[in-house]
Amino acid sequence: MSAVLRAPFRIAALSHCTDLLKITWQDGAKSTFPNIWLRASVRDPKYFTDSLIYNQSDYARFIATESPIVKAENGEGSEDVIVEWEDHRSSFNASWLRAQDMKNNDSLRKEHEITLWDANSKFPVYSYSERMEKLDSWLTDLVRYGVAFFEGVPPSQEGLEGIIHCVGQKKQRTHPTDTFEISADKSKAEQIDQDIYAPEKHPVHIDTAYYDAVNRLSCLVASKYSAPVQDTFNYWVDNLAVIEQLRREEPEAYELLCTIPARFSRRRMTVQEKCDPDKVYIYHYDNTLERPIISFNRLEKRHPTVYISNKHAGLELGNFKDHSTMKKFYEAFTLLHHKLYDPANHTRFLLKEGTAAIFNNHRVSHGRDDIHPTTDRALLLGFVGADMWNTRWRVLHGKKAGLEDKWLYGCSNEQLEILADRMEH
Ligand SMILES: [Fe+2]
Repeated sequence: MSAVLRAPFRIAALSHCTDLLKITWQDGAKSTFPNIWLRASVRDPKYFTDSLIYNQSDYARFIATESPIVKAENGEGSEDVIVEWEDHRSSFNASWLRAQDMKNNDSLRKEHEITLWDANSKFPVYSYSERMEKLDSWLTDLVRYGVAFFEGVPPSQEGLEGIIHCVGQKKQRTHPTDTFEISADKSKAEQIDQDIYAPEKHPVHIDTAYYDAVNRLSCLVASKYSAPVQDTFNYWVDNLAVIEQLRREEPEAYELLCTIPARFSRRRMTVQEKCDPDKVYIYHYDNTLERPIISFNRLEKRHPTVYISNKHAGLELGNFKDHSTMKKFYEAFTLLHHKLYDPANHTRFLLKEGTAAIFNNHRVSHGRDDIHPTTDRALLLGFVGADMWNTRWRVLHGKKAGLEDKWLYGCSNEQLEILADRMEH
C-alpha cells in the first residue's frame, strides 16, 4: 500500500487576499502566510538556487516589490500550492508550508524521543557488523538516552572509524592526530598538561565543555583490556534526569546554576603525541568562554545540558553576586556534583577489548572508576563535531520526508523531524 499524507499535512480549505495566503489543514489548524514571506520563500530557479540565494540582486528586489497575490489554488490530489502574483507564479509544497508554521505545530513536535534514565535502565548493545543497518536505531538512542554501546568492534583505528564514519567525518582535534590513544600509563599521563588519564578515578565530566560548539559525540573503542584482579568500569549519567531531579528537589539551586555564568578555560601549550618541536606551535590551544553550568546550547535549544568539566576557571568578577548568593551557588554546584557521582544515576559498561561506547556530550556526562595497577588497558578516542552530527540527523530526516532538496534546504531540525513523519504508512 502506498503511503498517504497524514491529516495535518492535507489541505481542507485554501483562500487568499492580496497580502495573505490562508490554509485550513485537515487537523483543524489554520495557517496564515504573509505575501512578502511567500515571495521570500519561492523555490523556483528564477530566484532561488542554494548557492545563489544572496548573490542575485533581483531576489531582494523581487521580494520588496509591491505585488498583490492574484490567485492561489491547490489542485485535487496535488501537494502543490500554486500562488500567482502580477509578476510571477510559483508553487509551494503544502507539507513544507505546514512545517514552517511552528506556532501551530506543538502537537507535531517530536518531544517523545527523550527518555530519562537511571541505574536501573538497560540499553541495547549493537553489533559492529550491523552498524549501518541499525544506524537509525542507534542514532535515535543517542538522542533518546545519549549513549549507545557496541560489541564485535575491531580493536583498532579501523573500529573507531568504522563507527564514527557511520555519522560522518571525524572531528579534527587541536593535536597532531585525530585519534587520541588513552592508556592508564602514569609515565605517559605526566607528559600531558593534567594527569586526567592517570589510573586514579576519572572525574565525571563532558568532553570539550570549553568549546562553543561542544563536540557532539565521543567514541571510545577499547583496543586492549586485561584485568586479572579488578575490572575497570566506565559510567555515564543522564544529565537531563539529574537536572530534572535538581529542579524538582532544589529549585533555588537549579535556578542559580541556570543563570550565573561560569568561566570555562583550556590552555595547553604542549603536545603529548610525537611531534617535531618546531610544530608544537601549531597545536597550541588557549580558549575561554562563559556559560551557566546548566544551559541550552546553540544547536539544541529544546533541552538543557550540564556543562561539567575539570576546566572550570572561576567566574568573571562582573558576574559575581553578593556573598550569600555566591555561597548558595557553590553549594548548588556541590549538590549537582553529588547527583552526578551518585551510582543510582549511573549506567556502567565494561570497555573490554572489542567493545565501544559512543555518547552524546549534549546529553550525558561520563567518568571512570580507578584502574588497578595490574590492569593493562587502552582506549582509542575520536570525536564527531556538532555540525557533522547535525548534518547526518538532517540528511536522514530529509530522506524520510521524501521531498525535493529545495524544500529540505534551510528547514530547522524540528521542521525536518516533523516532515519526516508526514506520511502515514
Ligand atoms: Fe571524557
